[in-house]
Amino acid sequence: MDGIRIRPAERRDAPQINAALRALSRTMGDTHAADDRLIERAGFGETPAFHALLAEQAGAVIGAALYSPLLSTTRGATGAHVSDLWVAAALRGQGLGARLLAAVRDRAQAQWGAGFLRLAVYHDNHRAAAFYAGLGFLPASAETTMTLQGAALAAIGEAP
Ligand SMILES: CC(C)(COP(=O)(O)OP(=O)(O)OC[C@H]1O[C@@H](n2cnc3c(N)ncnc32)[C@H](O)[C@@H]1OP(=O)(O)O)[C@@H](O)C(=O)NCCC(=O)NCCS
Repeated sequence: MDGIRIRPAERRDAPQINAALRALSRTMGDTHAADDRLIERAGFGETPAFHALLAEQAGAVIGAALYSPLLSTTRGATGAHVSDLWVAAALRGQGLGARLLAAVRDRAQAQWGAGFLRLAVYHDNHRAAAFYAGLGFLPASAETTMTLQGAALAAIGEAP
């Protein structure tokens, strides 16, 4: 894994970030509705919805990690939610995923004092789950991730 550089992404990297996320979506079998302009707006506007680190080798993006701030009153600490982690297929299994997570740890610690990492993994992504467990991530057994969107989101608070 020689000549790899991990660096914070900048506004001009939006197309490369989106290419990495598109590759991740393809691997996961997810639809991918994000375009480069959304990535640019979401990541580099006045209130960023994510921060990103890119791993590069010989000028090509070979890995990416997206993360955002969160607060845990239980822990009495801020943390980082890792929303996306991707390593190019040909380079998996050589330690780059762990290096990206270490870089998120260090960068989020420097940015907002983050003291823990959090992420979600699909139930059928056994290799990634094993990777995270091997690093020491523990599953949250007492909670379920829930999402509200579309008409139900708009209808909150309306009379039943
Ligand atoms: C999961 C991922 C980010 C880990 O990065 P990585 O650079 O392969 O990980 P590392 O080399 O640091 O660690 C290797 C471990 O990752 C795990 N792993 C997960 N998917 C893997 C893959 N497709 N190929 C090789 N190892 C994989 C293995 O448990 C491996 O451990 P092992 O060497 O004992 O078998 C990367 O494999 C990847 O991009 N996978 C596809 C996308 C994905 O699942 N992203 C996470 C979504 S939650």
